[in-house]
Amino acid sequence: MDSEAFRREAHRVADWIADYLAAPDRFPVLSRSLPGDIRAALPAHAPAEGENFSDIFSDFERIILPGITHWNHPGFFAYFAITGSGPGVLAEFLSAALNVQAMLWRTSPAATELEEVTLGWLRRLIGLPEEFGGVIYDTASVSSLHALAAARELAVADVRTKGLAGRDDLPRFRIYCSEHAHSSIDKAVILLGLGHDAVAHVEGDAEYRMRPDRLEEAIVRDRDAGMRPLAVVATVGTTSTTSVDPVRDISAICGLEGIWLHVDAAYAGVAAMLPDYRWILDGAEHADSVVVNPHKWLFTPFDLSVLYCRRMDALRAAFSLTPEYLRTTEAAPVQNLMDTGIQLGRRFRSLKLWMVLRHFGVDGIRERLAHHIQLAQRFAEWVRADTDFTVVAPVPFSVVCFRANGSDRFNEQILDAVNGSGEVFLSHTRLNGQFVIRLAIGNLRTTEAHVARAWTLIQQYNCELRAQ
Ligand SMILES: Cc1ncc(COP(=O)(O)O)c(C=O)c1O
Repeated sequence: MDSEAFRREAHRVADWIADYLAAPDRFPVLSRSLPGDIRAALPAHAPAEGENFSDIFSDFERIILPGITHWNHPGFFAYFAITGSGPGVLAEFLSAALNVQAMLWRTSPAATELEEVTLGWLRRLIGLPEEFGGVIYDTASVSSLHALAAARELAVADVRTKGLAGRDDLPRFRIYCSEHAHSSIDKAVILLGLGHDAVAHVEGDAEYRMRPDRLEEAIVRDRDAGMRPLAVVATVGTTSTTSVDPVRDISAICGLEGIWLHVDAAYAGVAAMLPDYRWILDGAEHADSVVVNPHKWLFTPFDLSVLYCRRMDALRAAFSLTPEYLRTTEAAPVQNLMDTGIQLGRRFRSLKLWMVLRHFGVDGIRERLAHHIQLAQRFAEWVRADTDFTVVAPVPFSVVCFRANGSDRFNEQILDAVNGSGEVFLSHTRLNGQFVIRLAIGNLRTTEAHVARAWTLIQQYNCELRAQ
């Protein structure tokens, strides 16, 4: 594409994006595409000759857009609602144009140093001490995998050179997390070669928080059986109910037992920026690692996850390996980010976090987080006031778990009908064996009117379905 054509198309795409971000709700939030629709509309083979960008773009609008579920829609209340904010989107433009690959400090000093500075800002904002180094990965799944790899590096003698297979000098290892922890922990354990049976799911209390007494019991039992505890994962903001495990109590147990503590604060960690929510990371200052996802509730376009780690040396010991062609001569304190993880190439992700933090400012971010929490509390009050419904879990942040009185099937029907409206999209979970509807607030465009509309639709379908 010559530079004039690029300029023309860039303006067209930028205009389209600006219109989109101004009103993503002109599309149905949940794609109505059926399985195979998109595939059937596309040719089976790549074009032999290059095509005009105008034609490609019109196919984007005609074929691709109908297959999009709009995560930036103000009626998106499923999973964890997120925002690709304007400054974050612009940063992604710039990052794509620069096409920086920050594997070494030398391959783009600004990418490495901006990551250090921006993660320092975020660390101070959520109240973690200076001993924690930070590194950006794509997702919390990958951050937790790296944290547990560092734990394994310290706990298992010679694991880097000898691995785990066929060794009779090693005991069986155990990783503890609550029964409500995210499945990414299980996946990490599987990938680290410890075997899925190594995960001990510790019982939660009535509010879905890990029970420290049960953790202690499990550790004693496992030690007696000859197993070695390798790490504990506490969750701050569990996936279903956003419950907060008692990190301080868990950290005391880990301290006494000499076990690595990883805190999964992927969704809720950023709420520690609010003075009233500082407590959620109470005890995390004693953790070995903490993951926080700006792509969840910090208005940063997907993907950007931050791992804070007190033992960056362990992380490097696990992953650092430098072939000759990547050897450079810069001395400490220069760091090469390729040493802190499995990937060599890495995107310039810190640019978007830096631009988001600067654009909104700390007060602006706090205000918006507090607003989302307030909206969720209001929604919970409406649900509690309706005798056809029950709020089934505490609402510490911006997620409400509730169900209509009636069968699982009835709740599923309500959810399907509400999602079929195209105006809102909610998801579900299962608690105490029951199907539960979940409303999550986290998009910057979501106002009280959108939340009220979701509630109106839920009540309306509840009445219609009960009348059938
Ligand atoms: C508590 C928690 N941890 C980890 C994850 C995984 O996040 P990611 O998609 O960034 O891997 C999630 C996803 O919702 C989560 O809720």
